[in-house]
Amino acid sequence: MKKINLYFIVIIFSFVDISANALYLDLMKRCLLNLVYQDANTEGTFSQDLREQGRDCPTQAHTMIGLHGLNNIQNCLEDIIKNNIPGDCIETGVWRGGAVIFMRSILKAYNVTDRTVWVADSFEGLPVPNTEKYPEDNYPYNVSTPNKILAISLEQVRDNFTKYGLLDDQVRFLKGWFKDTLPNAPIDKIALLRLDGDFYESTMDTLINLYPKLSVGGYIIIDDYVAMTQCEKAIQDYRRMHNITDKIEEAGWSIRYWKKSK
Ligand SMILES: C[S@@+](CC[C@H](N)C(=O)[O-])C[C@H]1O[C@@H](n2cnc3c(N)ncnc32)[C@H](O)[C@@H]1O
Repeated sequence: MKKINLYFIVIIFSFVDISANALYLDLMKRCLLNLVYQDANTEGTFSQDLREQGRDCPTQAHTMIGLHGLNNIQNCLEDIIKNNIPGDCIETGVWRGGAVIFMRSILKAYNVTDRTVWVADSFEGLPVPNTEKYPEDNYPYNVSTPNKILAISLEQVRDNFTKYGLLDDQVRFLKGWFKDTLPNAPIDKIALLRLDGDFYESTMDTLINLYPKLSVGGYIIIDDYVAMTQCEKAIQDYRRMHNITDKIEEAGWSIRYWKKSK
């Protein structure tokens, strides 16, 4: 009888834990997207639908990847944790840091202490397109225009982590252009690889340097697959070069991902 009571209590506590995690992560998503105070986007309006889809550029919120993007990170990382897929998490192209802050919060929620969240960015916006080497990046206007919005300093991103109580030694920064920082990044294995660097060059530099480190059973997520044709081209070129046939899945209007099978 006593044994049965003990089992009962353990089961109740597991449910309390699970629902507390779900509530924490749900609130994190609402805060990171600023669905609470509903800041305007760069067009001067707020639309719940656009913000959830990740189709607007917020003036205050800490990420532009939308609820669909955050849900996708959560689904992938929970699967990685459940199946003990080895490796760290990384996003290449973090802007204000919302997506990586969310990765850290998931590790925190599940009490995962042996994985690092890597935060890779120039922290000064997009590179000047190298159209000789990458003609796909023939950008229609000078990068200084988008960079007025995209150039967020490392200090600002650190500060954003701190606001959520999530800046600690499980968060590490790789500051600089991907072509310089990724080849020698001190990362052994990756379980979650998220690409959000917009350009062909930025996407290809990430794939070449980091995809070989992605564990089998881990996930690669591409934010700009539909939004930026040069990003899709880089993904298709790399898949062709390396004979990758894993099925590309959809997560929202522009986000695509796959689970590495071999
Ligand atoms: C669209 S934003 C990322 C949005 C972000 N993932 C979020 O959660 O909202 C693109 C970012 O990629 C960075 N970036 C693009 N190409 C880069 C490169 N080659 N090297 C370093 N940073 C790059 C920019 O500085 C910018 O912060």
